[in-house]
Amino acid sequence: MKKIIICLFISLAIQLNAQITDDKLNEIIEQLSIEEKVYLVVGTGMNIPGFSEESNAPQAIVGTTQDKIPGAAGTSYTNKKLGFPAVVFADGPAGIRISPIREEYPNQTFYATAFPIGTSISSSWNVELAKEVGAAFGREGKEYGVDFLLAPALNIQRNPLGGRNFEYYSEDPVLGGKITAGFVNGVQSEGIGATIKHFVANNSETNRTELNTVVSERALREIYLKGFEIAVKESQPWSVMSSYNKINGVYTSESEDLLTKILRDEWNFNGFVMTDWFGGKDAVAQMKAGNDLLMPGSNQQSKSILEALKNGDLSEVVLNRNVKYILRQYFKTPSFKKYVPTGKPDLEAHKIISRNAAAEGMILLNNDNNTLPLKRETKIALFGVTSVETIAGGTGSGDVNKAYMISVNEGLKNANFILDKVVESDYELFIKEEKAKIPPKKMFFEKDVLVQDKVWSKESLKVIADNNDVAIFTLGRTSGEFQDRVVDGDFNLTMNELVLIKNISEVFHAKNKKFIVILNIGGVIETQSWKHYADAILLTWQAGQETGNAIADIISGKINPSGKLPVTFPMSLENVASSKNFPGKVIDPNGPKPNNPLFGVPAEEIYEEGIYVGYRYFDSFDIDVSYPFGYGLSYTNFEYSNINIIKNSDEIFIECTIKNIGNFNGKEVAQLYVKSPKGNLEKPKKELKGFVKTKLLNIGESQKITIKTSVNDLGYYDTVSNSWKLDEGNYIFYVSSNSELMKLHITVPLKGKIIEKNKKLLSPIDQIQELEKK
Ligand code: BGC
Repeated sequence: MKKIIICLFISLAIQLNAQITDDKLNEIIEQLSIEEKVYLVVGTGMNIPGFSEESNAPQAIVGTTQDKIPGAAGTSYTNKKLGFPAVVFADGPAGIRISPIREEYPNQTFYATAFPIGTSISSSWNVELAKEVGAAFGREGKEYGVDFLLAPALNIQRNPLGGRNFEYYSEDPVLGGKITAGFVNGVQSEGIGATIKHFVANNSETNRTELNTVVSERALREIYLKGFEIAVKESQPWSVMSSYNKINGVYTSESEDLLTKILRDEWNFNGFVMTDWFGGKDAVAQMKAGNDLLMPGSNQQSKSILEALKNGDLSEVVLNRNVKYILRQYFKTPSFKKYVPTGKPDLEAHKIISRNAAAEGMILLNNDNNTLPLKRETKIALFGVTSVETIAGGTGSGDVNKAYMISVNEGLKNANFILDKVVESDYELFIKEEKAKIPPKKMFFEKDVLVQDKVWSKESLKVIADNNDVAIFTLGRTSGEFQDRVVDGDFNLTMNELVLIKNISEVFHAKNKKFIVILNIGGVIETQSWKHYADAILLTWQAGQETGNAIADIISGKINPSGKLPVTFPMSLENVASSKNFPGKVIDPNGPKPNNPLFGVPAEEIYEEGIYVGYRYFDSFDIDVSYPFGYGLSYTNFEYSNINIIKNSDEIFIECTIKNIGNFNGKEVAQLYVKSPKGNLEKPKKELKGFVKTKLLNIGESQKITIKTSVNDLGYYDTVSNSWKLDEGNYIFYVSSNSELMKLHITVPLKGKIIEKNKKLLSPIDQIQELEKK
């Protein structure tokens, strides 16, 4: 009888869209057998041809779950007794990663929109835009049958070589956290869940499942955890994905300090925590730590949990707690609400959102003598393999099965630019021949191999220069999950590329013609040694399926660039503080090698630079950079004036006026940096505390903007007293157009205080204490 009432209640609650109360959840959980509960905390596994569960081989091949939604990364178990359907989990940060083909629908395709990569979205510095893009993900996911999006990914871009930096937002946690919150609010406004990942300090790919990250609690709190904290507090994501790595000796998925004490007790996180795919080693420890759901799930994990429940090693109270966190969110999903996906999201509308977002994330790095924009019908000699084979995004779980890709070449032609036909056909032939020499990938996770650029003699360049008005060269890079990037030919340009850039520049300049470089890249590269050869440089990132059209929008002046760098471009890789330790050291270099690239070997990465990540390092130690954090040009200029501060006991509002004083309509990103007074602990010279993007300002138009921060956000973490503290003294608030160009400032005295007292957490092992003393 009770079961029937519960079932009736469940369907009524779902129909009424009502939030399930805690008491009701407890009643529902009471109806579940131990086994049924265990099946709620362990996913259904992945159907991977060639890998049996008994073998020690990895089972994770992203995107091959053939169950409810083909190509989704995972599913939950159904429970017939209580009418729980399976919920579906699908990647990822650049679009809904599912298979475009379903056997039962031979006449229909399920291609997803490839949106710009995470780094491009954050380059917009536009939280509203992130929300709009997130909402498009939400609608598309819902219509394709997805309940939880496995995105966004907001790990800190600690080092340029990080293989997954393209998925991540920034080197700064405030920018990353705010963009994440916007995106999550967008996704969840459409009724599916967002999963913020990878919690936490998953900043390199080498040996990723065996890596021990050694990092001070201060750096964790101020840098690596900060973005997650902002995202949790400002958007309450339905779930959080723990990361593969250990922190100070403990797997994140097995760390009660991280998953319960910080995430839940300190930040009031309400959703559930899932592992990364096959992350961590000890299912019982994960349960206890508060890693509610094990994904994609294996029978072995269910067995260990059942065994531990029987022998008293795991209490049912803990299991009930985890089940409750999971079910509370499951009840909100389309599957639980019996929503029937149409399989037909509005791909035309999403195409437009993708194109606009792509353009808004593009950053104009150089524009000598107003080289850009170009008049339509300009004759262009378009060089570069990636002008034709333009890269939409990175590889691995961040990849998207898209219906089409607009290359730079197509985009410029669509916008009525006249491309040199000889150069175009030479490239097509060259690429065809070179691609035939590249062996096909054996496994999906292998990095794409790009065709190395064509060598052009100076003589042929001279003829081309005679026939065209300008030259454009697109330089491309790819990277992806499972591997970090390399220095030669990746961070640094190849000799071919350098020679080509120099030669095009010299030949075209000799004829008084301009040379433009487009950077179709997923992460930071070296720019200092060659940037003077170009009259204009446009950093487009990998901007999704509409990359070519969005580039044409900027190059033609249809859209005025307004992106700013979410990451510093250093003079050299050695100048980056983390390069000293990236990507960590193998503990036993003579130990056994993994027989599968998915497995790593035990390794350790020491975050010796502590809080000095990105601009915090370059700025505090006066190290010159090629392009600073927050930098980006516009076709117009902006004037900043009238700074004012309004402060109550907690909140601080910085106001100023921004006026478009140039000859193009445009948007500006105003950035708020704060310099704190000297205290007992050293601090970065200044830190980003907020930002605002203006509306599109017409020529001559002004906008009064307000950037909000709070007194508590100005604090630092003191690991001796385990507390967030504020030093007494003068705080300087700078409003600026990049991290080096301060436009206005105002000084405010603040009283010192202890902001929040916490417990000692995160294994204060000797190595860390040493780090903290530095
Ligand atoms: C990645 C996650 C992804 C998961 C499921 C893992 O390999 O690290 O980001 O969500 O696979 O595809």
